Amino acid sequence: MNILVINGSPKAERSNTWQLTNAFLEGMNESGEAIETQTLTVRDMNIRPCLGCFSCWSKTPGQCCIADDMGQVIEKLLWADVTVWSFPLYYFSVPGPLKNLIDRQLPLILPFMSPDGGETGSGSHPARYDMSGKKTVVISTCGFYTAEGNYDGVRSLFDHQCGKGNYTTLFCGQGELFRVPELRRRTEEYLGYVRRAGKEYMAGGISAETRAALDQLLFPRSVFESWADDSWGVDKETGARESDTLIFTRQMAALYQKESWPGHDLVLEMRYTDVSERYQIVLGREGSSVLTGGFRPADTTVETPVTVWKSIAAGELSGSEALMRRQYRVEGDLGLLISWDKYFGSGNASAPKKAETAAPAGIHIPSKPTSLNILLLPWIVFWVGASIHPFWGGLASLMACALVPLIFYGHKMTVYDALSGGLVACFSAAALLGAPIRLVVPLAYLAFGVMWAASCLCRVPLTAHYSMNDYDGESALANPLFIKTNRILTLAWGALYLLTPIWTYFLLGTGIGGWTGAINSILPLLMGVFTAWFQKWYPAKVAKG
Ligand SMILES: Cc1cc2nc3c(=O)[nH]c(=O)nc-3n(C[C@H](O)[C@H](O)[C@H](O)COP(=O)(O)O)c2cc1C
Repeated sequence: MNILVINGSPKAERSNTWQLTNAFLEGMNESGEAIETQTLTVRDMNIRPCLGCFSCWSKTPGQCCIADDMGQVIEKLLWADVTVWSFPLYYFSVPGPLKNLIDRQLPLILPFMSPDGGETGSGSHPARYDMSGKKTVVISTCGFYTAEGNYDGVRSLFDHQCGKGNYTTLFCGQGELFRVPELRRRTEEYLGYVRRAGKEYMAGGISAETRAALDQLLFPRSVFESWADDSWGVDKETGARESDTLIFTRQMAALYQKESWPGHDLVLEMRYTDVSERYQIVLGREGSSVLTGGFRPADTTVETPVTVWKSIAAGELSGSEALMRRQYRVEGDLGLLISWDKYFGSGNASAPKKAETAAPAGIHIPSKPTSLNILLLPWIVFWVGASIHPFWGGLASLMACALVPLIFYGHKMTVYDALSGGLVACFSAAALLGAPIRLVVPLAYLAFGVMWAASCLCRVPLTAHYSMNDYDGESALANPLFIKTNRILTLAWGALYLLTPIWTYFLLGTGIGGWTGAINSILPLLMGVFTAWFQKWYPAKVAKG
């Protein structure tokens, strides 16, 4: 198959649209069909405007009187099975040099009037050559937030040139975002859909699903327009030039997802140490604002070289790793940083949603929450129950194992919940069958302690599976500081339960053996208080540097 690509952007390879076209061609190539592609870059060609002399229709039929590169274009158009037109939208139409090329296609048609007036009914000329079977793809980006309503002129042009419905379009708004490295996660995702479209095109046509993904806005209108306005670096009111750092901060603030407003305003202070500039982003119910003065008490203060923060924003540097490496410092509430994606959606699009009201690509859709109670309940029932009465206690804990999935319906079970259910069921069965309780109960504590301590060897320690609910769900698991904090806590809890069997064994041999379960709850209560303190104190200590 012969493919001719006409790049009509004056920016040639630096064109935003070219990124889409390239992705589409990559997709076409993935189809496995033998493809020969030739590209013409209009900017680099000598194509003069049509003189309107009609000599190609009368004096030299099929031959233009201008000797320039257009002869080559006509040749290639006749050679191609598929012609891909790639261009930016200029004044709701095609850029001038490309329009010259389009005008100069006159030798490809005959001068006579088609009796049927063509498909549009407004008049047409028959083709000079057999163009049947040739296909056309039109790819374009534009600068407004949407392609909708902006391409009427272009559609009309190609309707007349190819016939209505006889060509495939790929029109995309927010085209300038394709050159912004900070937004690469979202734009790369979009280019992935374009690639898929190219592949599907070769297999017969772009699927409805891919088309729906391509029709999504890259970002919501309000976010895009506020970026677009800020990107010029000029104050809207005064027209004065603004600092790059302020523009960067504004663009970051524009990403704020007001749906994640926690019920009170949050103030994020950014102190850029290398340029000695300070701004505050106020995250409110109705949106965000950037303060350049009149500062408020900050909930979270980030002290960072702007270069570091830009690298993080561009995805070149992991925010949490940079924090661990002390490349920036944080004071105050770390939750905002740990849940960054929730507040600022970082561009890793989830399922596409329509229009401005939809959460922008990048917002994390939480999966079902986990609950530590699922894990603890069977154990507590066993320890307390079996210490009081082996048979009834064993029975109660067996029932607890069976009922837990019902009680916590709607929660996600972790591997530790399942393991706990299995272990407690075994210990309960042993108690029911009359195994000595002075051995079974300490063994149950030991098994519990081993499970916690052993989980420290895994990538995600046990407590992290549960405390992630307080942050941004599973995305918190990618945060090394969060994992490190949880590893320490899990180890502390594991140690406590590895030691518990020692005094439990002796306690069960005394007159207050029936109180063992209750007595053994005192230390965990104290550990709970320690945990609540440590999980805030330790990350804050690290973040402070
Ligand atoms: C002269 C000029 C006219 C433009 N006219 C429009 C327009 O009518 N509508 C629009 O949405 N964007 C318009 N734009 C924005 C471009 O279409 C947009 O920046 C596009 O992504 C550039 O694509 P390219 O990098 O492939 O050349 C215009 C840009 C220029 C320079």
